[in-house]
Amino acid sequence: MGKHYPHVSEEYKAAVQKAKRKLTGFIAEKRCAPLMLRLAWHSAGTFDVSTKTGGPFGTIRHEAELAHGANNGLDIAVRLLQPIKDEFPIISYADFYQLAGVVAVQVTGGPEIPFHPGREDKPEPPVEGRLPDAKKGCDHLRDVFIKQMGLTDQDIVALSGGHTLGAAHKERSGFEGPWTSNPLIFDNSYFTELLTGEKDGLLQLPSDKALLNDPVFRPLVEKYAADEDAFFADYALAHLKLSELGFVEA
Ligand code: HEM
Repeated sequence: MGKHYPHVSEEYKAAVQKAKRKLTGFIAEKRCAPLMLRLAWHSAGTFDVSTKTGGPFGTIRHEAELAHGANNGLDIAVRLLQPIKDEFPIISYADFYQLAGVVAVQVTGGPEIPFHPGREDKPEPPVEGRLPDAKKGCDHLRDVFIKQMGLTDQDIVALSGGHTLGAAHKERSGFEGPWTSNPLIFDNSYFTELLTGEKDGLLQLPSDKALLNDPVFRPLVEKYAADEDAFFADYALAHLKLSELGFVEA
């Protein structure tokens, strides 16, 4: 059985195609792909499979959710996107933010991620505390990604490769610096750097380093460091799942 996506009108699909082109130019010009990927991920990553609450449903634009500690700095992303969103009133915020995440990966040279429209905006932000804590290890990552979100071990490692983009900011998370030497290029260098060990100027969070000490995670880190095509294939699949949590039944 395939997935059942909601029916959306031809007009809606056309708006999504046009918004995708606008976002492509905008994200490239502003060099804000990392922040847009983080916005899409923090929107979706609050999904709780047991209560079917949270998830990529546009709630992150609300003050209450932007005020969650994990979302420090994402008000900038919401503000940057608003003028383009205003051009497409027909598109939900839910779809728009996930589209921005898909475009961010593509603009920086990452894999193409399928995008299916039809998410509806929900009124209620999720409770705080569902996004992962960078100071914790593998048990915590599994609690969040597997037990709460309903993803897999492979998804955890593949999605961690999203840190190929961007940097941490002291005033946002308390951490500082990029994970790789080319933080605007989506490639497999997160994994090659992780295996190389800590270097001057490059960041490894405790939650990144934890991947090296787990018998299931470490072989995947090694595989993605050796084979970028394998990383891209698994990343695209994991990102697609993340972007559709609570949206369609598998
Ligand atoms: C595995 C658990 C994760 C933890 C603990 C974590 C933690 C963090 C932290 C602490 C920052 C720094 C924020 C700042 O100071 O600006 C960050 C940034 C970022 N994260 Fe994650 N993250 C995780 C997973 C992910 C995933 C799954 C993705 C996407 C697929 C992702 C994408 C990003 C990006 C692109 C940035 C850079 C943002 C920028 O440059 O402004 N992260 N993450």
